[in-house]
Amino acid sequence: MAGMTDTAFRRLVKRHGGCGLVVTEMVSAEGLVRGIDRTLEYAEFTDEERPIAIQIFGGDPDKMAAAAQIVEGMGADIVDVNMGCPVPKIAKHNAGCSLMREPAHAAGVIAAMTRAVSIPVTVKMRAGWNDDERNAPTLAKLMQDAGAAAVAVHGRTAAQSYSGSADWDLVAQIAEDLTIPVFGSGDCIEPEQIVARIRSGVEGVLVGRGVLRNPWILAQATDLIAGRPPREVTLADRGRFLLDYIDLLLLERVRDDESRNTSPYESRIPNPESRHHRWVVNKLRALASWYTKGLENGSHLRTAINSSESLDALGHTIETFFFDAPAAPSRKGAVPLLLESV
Ligand SMILES: Cc1cc2nc3c(=O)[nH]c(=O)nc-3n(C[C@H](O)[C@H](O)[C@H](O)COP(=O)(O)O)c2cc1C
Repeated sequence: MAGMTDTAFRRLVKRHGGCGLVVTEMVSAEGLVRGIDRTLEYAEFTDEERPIAIQIFGGDPDKMAAAAQIVEGMGADIVDVNMGCPVPKIAKHNAGCSLMREPAHAAGVIAAMTRAVSIPVTVKMRAGWNDDERNAPTLAKLMQDAGAAAVAVHGRTAAQSYSGSADWDLVAQIAEDLTIPVFGSGDCIEPEQIVARIRSGVEGVLVGRGVLRNPWILAQATDLIAGRPPREVTLADRGRFLLDYIDLLLLERVRDDESRNTSPYESRIPNPESRHHRWVVNKLRALASWYTKGLENGSHLRTAINSSESLDALGHTIETFFFDAPAAPSRKGAVPLLLESV
């Protein structure tokens, strides 16, 4: 998920269990081909995350094929194509969901990629562009014929963006029609919903926002499938997750740094004012906008994180809310996750 599921976040989720496949945030095929540093950073992953798919976006068959070769060269297990992004900045470049509007061209992109690499090429799409163009069933079939190894369908149109609800009947119909594996995506924010969707005939479920809210959701769904009660997640567990995330982010791209100071949260930062420091704070703010949803007093935490200007202040905010706050639920008690619509 763009801006959210970086390698540090993915590793932490994977460590909690239940995750069968990890997908990177979408990265630009053009950026990969041109060797843009930022793009290459978005595509970084560690062995711990395997099996891993790198998702690319773009609309030019030759560039997509060249980008797929770069992805293969980076050691990814799968190269996934984004045909679902509704954001105009992406869609206007003939990429993302706008590829669904040109099925023959989209098939050409997949065919060029499958000729260029030996790793599986997969496709992530939406239900269609808008209500008049809900062509996922025919497009998915075309992708299969063009050589795609699997498709994933988010059951909303681009026009819907995130409004309404995902059409899982459509996903189930596609799963029935195709011989390749079909994955579904959309609106699983409780582990029980994942289990119900898995039993609807799809090969698997891609969970997006639910993981940003509750990184244990995949492990909890696995518990349910195994006939166990879903594992309890305490407030301390949730606080620990954020501190671990900070730790991993701090280690990104400063691995060689030896400097230390006395602050527990700034100890790994060569210069507390550095851009890296600011980047970590911003990463935590982005995650907090999802992570605090449904959490008791979550809006207070969100405000406090957004006003924590330094990493040290951020660390203290987390400590206070998750470990010290007298008003907050006990560390040993289960976190009261309240259902609310996203
Ligand atoms: C912040 C955000 C970023 C996303 N980035 C991507 C992306 O890079 N690639 C992609 O295929 N889908 C992306 N999605 C869509 C999700 O993968 C998913 O299909 C959609 O959110 C519906 O599933 P959910 O209800 O489980 O979140 C993104 C969604 C959100 C909310």
